[in-house]
Amino acid sequence: REISNFTLVLFGANGDLALRKLFPSMYELARWGQMPDKYRIIGVGRSDIGHDGFRELVREAMVAHAPHIDTGSGHFSDFIQSLFYVQVDLTTVEGYHRLREEIRTGHGREGTCSNLLFYLSTPPSLAPFIVRFLDEAGLGGKSPSCQGWRKIIIEKPYGHDLQSARELNVIVGEVFHEEQIYRIDHYLGKEPVQNILVFRFSNGMFEPLWNRHYIDNVSITIAEDFGIRGRGSFYEEAGLLRDIIQNHGLQLLASVAMEPPVDLSADAVRDEKEKVFRSLRRFTVESAREHVVLGQYDGYRQENNVASDSLVETFASIRFFIDNWRWKGVPFYMKAGKNLARSLTEIVITFSCPPQNFFGPPESCSYTANQIVIQIQPEQTIAIRFGTKRPGEALVTDPVFMKFDYRASFEKEGMTPYHRLLVDAMAGDQMHFIRQDSVESSWSVIDSIKSSLQGSVPQPYAVHSWGPETGF
Ligand code: BG6
Repeated sequence: REISNFTLVLFGANGDLALRKLFPSMYELARWGQMPDKYRIIGVGRSDIGHDGFRELVREAMVAHAPHIDTGSGHFSDFIQSLFYVQVDLTTVEGYHRLREEIRTGHGREGTCSNLLFYLSTPPSLAPFIVRFLDEAGLGGKSPSCQGWRKIIIEKPYGHDLQSARELNVIVGEVFHEEQIYRIDHYLGKEPVQNILVFRFSNGMFEPLWNRHYIDNVSITIAEDFGIRGRGSFYEEAGLLRDIIQNHGLQLLASVAMEPPVDLSADAVRDEKEKVFRSLRRFTVESAREHVVLGQYDGYRQENNVASDSLVETFASIRFFIDNWRWKGVPFYMKAGKNLARSLTEIVITFSCPPQNFFGPPESCSYTANQIVIQIQPEQTIAIRFGTKRPGEALVTDPVFMKFDYRASFEKEGMTPYHRLLVDAMAGDQMHFIRQDSVESSWSVIDSIKSSLQGSVPQPYAVHSWGPETGF
């Protein structure tokens, strides 16, 4: 894809996400020839480290987090020379004027002054300041002095609930047009997640069955075998519903449940996802009690920066219903949690049993076979699990798999979610980014759970178990 020369302005440039993921991804894109001829990355941070200190910080981070990268190569030194740094107190306007001057200097890289991609890899509370002050400094997307293009990528969490997401949308919307706003959820950059659309709509054989007449239930698991990894303060604010379900979980659900888009434009795809969010049944106090189980792993309260009486959930098991013609009555089970038995992200579509099951006890088909299993990680596979006759005289069925494995079918491509999403944003493709309406409708689902279960105590569960015993 054609990408014009530009400058990436990275807020939170010395933060964890930037150092672990964004710089290695940017370097590799440059190495693979996917960056334009001329580009710059201007890091913005609080500390006074200057261009050289910043370059050294990025080099050290690459050595630590991306050891496969040859930091002695010519490519790498070219990349390092494209890095610049501006020290800014993000909550006052002065630094933004300095940033504008730094952008204007161009550093001899033609075309990079006018095309600007802002990336907010900062805590959500800073986003309103950054957006407003960018505007005051004449760097907003609607600024009359604007030549070339301007875009903004905003990391999750996008808001904290429906109201704060709405407020943020208003503020960002005053300064940038929706077509310039890229709300990122890295799950949408995962290859097997992007493949759900292709798997469903490029084959004629699955879609006729993909509905309430033939599907018994859908289950989505996002399990991690590690805890909060030192992010106590963040988790105390967020909890698992906000950290995982509102974004990654509901995006997976929408990919499985959406109608075929009218075409492959970003808005056509996002229109269909939005319809799913709107059709998702909101929870009431009664239905939340029946369909939601929250848990907290043993030892969470002893983590750093966690209250000793914390009621924050690190696990959720939820039975969703989508009230539309395709899915009415089909439960979508979602289970996600920290410190579970193993790390696994998987979608299982379980088909209804045949009307007469000669080969086993009634309903047994659903539990052993009759499923499509889309594994997103650790393996990247799609399996059809079906019953087959066990060799021998008796008519006994055994479940077997037919499996597609990316590793066996394709050469390793080496792209990570951040590679894909950065290229999409640079090229101007919003398909795998969350639109304003969907960020709000997905929050409204989460809000309905939070308000219905306010003050309730999450069930304890043992580390490396599958969650609370009462979960489903
Ligand atoms: C992040 C969450 O968005 O996604 C983390 O904040 C979670 O809590 C992570 O661990 C999971 O991402 P991945 O790609 O490792 O499955």
